[in-house]
Amino acid sequence: MSQRTLHTTDDGSCTLYVPEIDEHYHSTKGALTESLHIFIAMALRHHPSPSPRVLEIGLGTGLNCLLTLWESRRTQRPVHYTSIELYPLAVEQVLPLNYPHRVAEALGLTADEEALLAADFAALHSAPWGEDVQLSEHFTLHKVEADYTQHTFATPFDVVYFDAFSPEKQPEMWSAERFSHLYGQMAKGGILTTYCAKGVVRRTLQSVGFAVERLAGPVGGKREILRGTK
Ligand SMILES: C[S@@+](CC[C@H](N)C(=O)[O-])C[C@H]1O[C@@H](n2cnc3c(N)ncnc32)[C@H](O)[C@@H]1O
Repeated sequence: MSQRTLHTTDDGSCTLYVPEIDEHYHSTKGALTESLHIFIAMALRHHPSPSPRVLEIGLGTGLNCLLTLWESRRTQRPVHYTSIELYPLAVEQVLPLNYPHRVAEALGLTADEEALLAADFAALHSAPWGEDVQLSEHFTLHKVEADYTQHTFATPFDVVYFDAFSPEKQPEMWSAERFSHLYGQMAKGGILTTYCAKGVVRRTLQSVGFAVERLAGPVGGKREILRGTK
């Protein structure tokens, strides 16, 4: 997965396209809209923990991480954020992404707050791998450079952002065996959300123990998304 091209999605936020597997990093209907809805609203805000431990499958562009960092600053709710990535992006692939500006616009932030977001975005990408890095008073990042299909994490998670490429393109990420392993790595009451609402994914999540809900998808995007609770 070496080549990636920049693409503007329907809400004006960018995403990356991987020609080799014909996949985008986000929904072409709106990358930012998708991330805010599926991961921030339906997962992070939904979990009752005062200091959730979050796991993201696929750091990629860092959009979910940036939004979570901002949410932790806004709410002063401490978050420990682990993100695994097998193919880290080079800095020249990250720089053209317009997330600080688009996020600031969508959340109605000031110019000073947008500058803070831009600094957050640079900091999350330049943070070293394999260790805890305190990016703000309420946000600790731990980036793991590894293959999710082979990996076991050290701590139980409260919230999982399951943001892998599609099951058609990467079936090994969506197997019952991996979901069962992931279930075992989550705390009681832990929740997982994903953009993929396919019946086979829903049934696989149920088969490994999750109570699964079908929720409305983001505005202008997919009709449904999934949320599993342990
Ligand atoms: C749909 S993209 C989403 C990325 C990210 N959440 C974002 O907002 O940009 C899927 C991500 O999973 C990563 N990935 C693919 N195979 C992987 C694997 N075996 N282990 C860990 N990450 C993987 C890709 O490189 C890509 O960054």
